[in-house]
Amino acid sequence: MKNKIIYLDHNATTPVDPRVITEVTSNFQELYANASSSYFFANNSRMAIENAKTNIAKLIGANADEIYFNSGATEGINFALKGLALHNNNSKKHIITCVTEHKAVLETCQYLESIGYEIDYLPVNSTGEINLHDLQKAIRKDTLLICLMWINNETGVIHPIIEIGKIARTAGVYFLCDATQGIGKLPIDVNDSGIDVLFFSGHKLYAPKGIGAIYINKSITKQNKIQPLMHGGGQENGLRSGTYNTPLISGLELAITLAKEEMNANKIHISNLRHFLESELLDIEGAYINGENTLRIYNTTNICVPQLDTEIFIAINKDIAVSNGSACTSAIIEPSHVLLAMGLNNIDAMNSLRVSIGKDNTLQDIQFLIQRIKLFINN
Ligand SMILES: Cc1ncc(COP(=O)(O)O)c(C=O)c1O
Repeated sequence: MKNKIIYLDHNATTPVDPRVITEVTSNFQELYANASSSYFFANNSRMAIENAKTNIAKLIGANADEIYFNSGATEGINFALKGLALHNNNSKKHIITCVTEHKAVLETCQYLESIGYEIDYLPVNSTGEINLHDLQKAIRKDTLLICLMWINNETGVIHPIIEIGKIARTAGVYFLCDATQGIGKLPIDVNDSGIDVLFFSGHKLYAPKGIGAIYINKSITKQNKIQPLMHGGGQENGLRSGTYNTPLISGLELAITLAKEEMNANKIHISNLRHFLESELLDIEGAYINGENTLRIYNTTNICVPQLDTEIFIAINKDIAVSNGSACTSAIIEPSHVLLAMGLNNIDAMNSLRVSIGKDNTLQDIQFLIQRIKLFINN
């Protein structure tokens, strides 16, 4: 029998919801026609894609023709940043982002820097928040865009996207928002938030890996202000060539719909588990929560526990999945760039554990983790 894994790393990825698996697998058999083919049999595939766009758009306050499917957030980030920056005749060469963004944003910005763009990386304070005056001050005449995440994947700290959107709108610069950790957990409306481009991945909300979506405000595409990353058959209005993955698109649609329907119940359940986890761990002498006393997403705890060498803890506890950084970098032994930016020293950063709770976790899972942490530090 397979040993049970206590999975508490939902910010890295989530298991696929069984209802989504059923939808996707049946569509592998039923919706396999190439949606771009002209024969009648492809109509169902085309309709499934259109329906998915309509439903996903509705959930974020967008229009169906503003949704484009892709492989996930990394692709969306690369497409949006490079596509807007490299747009022909672009005289605006300045970009604003933040030191605690995901590596997909930071590395793409560094690439743009290497070919002549200027990037301002806003700092954060000790609770992981940006200063909106800093943002305002950083805007220049040649600022093209602001790229700031909604929710930090390591700490769960929530950025004030409505205020950021207002600042961007007033200044006439694009606001690109990495919503990867927020979609499905909190409601969002791209209009209220003044977001011009928003990206996310399906696998963070119980859909399969390899599918994601990007919202691009029509004002950008109408005026051809973004250039594609993928050239080819001209799918997605020429902005993202490549045969549509209809089964995964329908899986993403179902996963988002379920997340929306079950959002309140999941929020209550997960918040209760996190409250229990934090109150138990904060009892340990010297323990503190990274990003405490600021708005954080309800499923994430990033806690520094003295004497908890997280690398050893993770290596020893093979039946527990928790993280000490972001999944993309966890193979590399170095302290989290997010925690260092918040002012932690190397040791505290390495002694910080990220626990990200999912809808199927139970109180027993949390008790199991707490017990193992206490056992570890008492030995
Ligand atoms: C905030 C954030 N942005 C972007 C990404 C990249 O997503 P993906 O690996 O699905 O492309 C992640 C993944 O961890 C993330 O948490």
